[in-house]
Amino acid sequence: MSKLAILGGPKTVDATPRKYRSMGPAEKQAVAEVMDSDCLSGFYGSWGDEFLGGPRVKAFEAAWAKRFGARHAVSVNSATSGLFAAMGAIGLGPGDEVIVPPTTMSATAMAPLAYGGIPVFADIEDETFCIDPDAVRAAIGPRTKAIIAVNLFGHPARLHELRALADERGLHLIEDNAQAVLAAEKGKYTGTIGHIGVFSLNYHKHIHTGEGGVCLTDDDNLALRLQMIRNHAENVVEPLQLADISSLIGFNYRLGELAAAVGTVQLANADTHIGIRVRLGEKLSAALAGLEGLTAPRVRPGCTHAYYVWSARYDEKVMGVPREVFSRALDAEGFPHFLGYVRPLYHLPLFQRRIGFGKTGFPFTLTNRRYEGDLCPVAERLHRSELLCFETCMYDVSDAEIDQFAAALRKVHAARRDLLALAKG
Ligand SMILES: Cc1ncc(COP(=O)(O)O)c(C=O)c1O
Repeated sequence: MSKLAILGGPKTVDATPRKYRSMGPAEKQAVAEVMDSDCLSGFYGSWGDEFLGGPRVKAFEAAWAKRFGARHAVSVNSATSGLFAAMGAIGLGPGDEVIVPPTTMSATAMAPLAYGGIPVFADIEDETFCIDPDAVRAAIGPRTKAIIAVNLFGHPARLHELRALADERGLHLIEDNAQAVLAAEKGKYTGTIGHIGVFSLNYHKHIHTGEGGVCLTDDDNLALRLQMIRNHAENVVEPLQLADISSLIGFNYRLGELAAAVGTVQLANADTHIGIRVRLGEKLSAALAGLEGLTAPRVRPGCTHAYYVWSARYDEKVMGVPREVFSRALDAEGFPHFLGYVRPLYHLPLFQRRIGFGKTGFPFTLTNRRYEGDLCPVAERLHRSELLCFETCMYDVSDAEIDQFAAALRKVHAARRDLLALAKG
C-alpha cells in the first residue's frame, strides 16, 4: 500500500467528482411548452377551479398521488412551506407541543413555532439516526398534538410503530420526507405512512424543481386544509361555509407551472435518478466490509434506503485516531465527505434564549420546557464523534470513481496508525 497522501504519498482519487445533473432534454421541452402557453401560474386566490392551480400543477399532483398511491397530493413551493401548512392543517395552536428529532434540517423544528407551537426534542436511534419511538413515548405529555418523524439521509424512521402510537394517543404523525423519496418501510413508501408526508424538491434533492415540495395525505379534510393554507385561505372560508376555521390563516405557498412541468418529468424518471444514488451508497458500503471501526449505514430489515446521504459510523476507540485526523487524511486522498450532520437543533440561539417572536419570548412563555444541556445524548455523540458522511445526491460518479473512493477509505484505514503523529501534533 502506498504512503498516505497527507504524508506526501500519491493521491487516490485523481479527479474532482462532477456535480450530478438531473435536468435533460425532456425537462427543457416541458419548460418550453409552458413558455409557449404563456401561463406561468394558474392559481387564483379566491374560490373556483383556479383556486387549485393551473393545468401543470394539477397534472403534477395527479402523477405524484398515483406514483405513491396516495389519495391527495398538494404541491407547495418548498418542503418548509409544506411542513408549516401541515401544522396549520392539523389545527396546531399556541402552546401545543410537537415532538421532533434534534438531528434534522431546521425547518422541521420551525414548523410548530410558526403556529405558536412548542417543539419537544426526542433523541434519535444509534443505527438509523431517525427519531427513537421510545424517546417519543417518553416525551408525550398532555399538550402533545403531533410527532414529526424525519426519514433522515433517506432511511425510514420506525414509521409503522410511530403511526400506531400516534393513533393510539390521538396524535397526528407528520413525516418530514424531504430526504427520502422512494424509500419504503414494510413495502409502503415513506411519505404515505403518516397522516401527512412532506417531500422537498429543492435542488439538493434526488429529484427537483429548483425549489418546490409536495404534501401527501389520504385524509380529505387535511387535504382541503392544506390547499386552503397554500392559497390565502381566508378568502375562501365563507364561500365554502366552513365551520372549523382554526389555524386557517392563509399564505402563498403555491408552486408555479414551470416547476410543476419540470417536476412531472423528474418524477417519471425518479427510479433512474434514485437508483443511481442507491447503487453508489451500496457500493461504498460494500467497500467497508471487514474494516473494523468503520460501520456502513444500516438498512433496517423491511426497509428500502434512498441514500440521500451515505452515513458511516466512526468508532474512535477501535480506530485509535481521532475522527478529525482520519478525515484530514481522507481529504488529502481526494474523497469528498463531511463529519457529523447539523448540531442538535436545540442548541440554536432561538431555543437557548427561548425567544420566538417579538421580544417577550413567545411562544416559550407558554411552556416550562427547557432546552438546556445535551438533551439528546445519542444525537450529541453521533454528531460530535461518529458520523462520517458522503453526499450521495451531489455527485455524478462512475464505477471507477466509486472504486477510487473505496480505495481511499481502505488505504487510510489500513495506515491509520501512521496518523498518530499528526493527531498528537
Ligand atoms: C429533513 C429536511 N426537512 C426540510 C427541508 C426543507 O426543504 P425545503 O428546502 O424544500 O424547504 C430539508 C431541506 O434540505 C430537509 O433536509
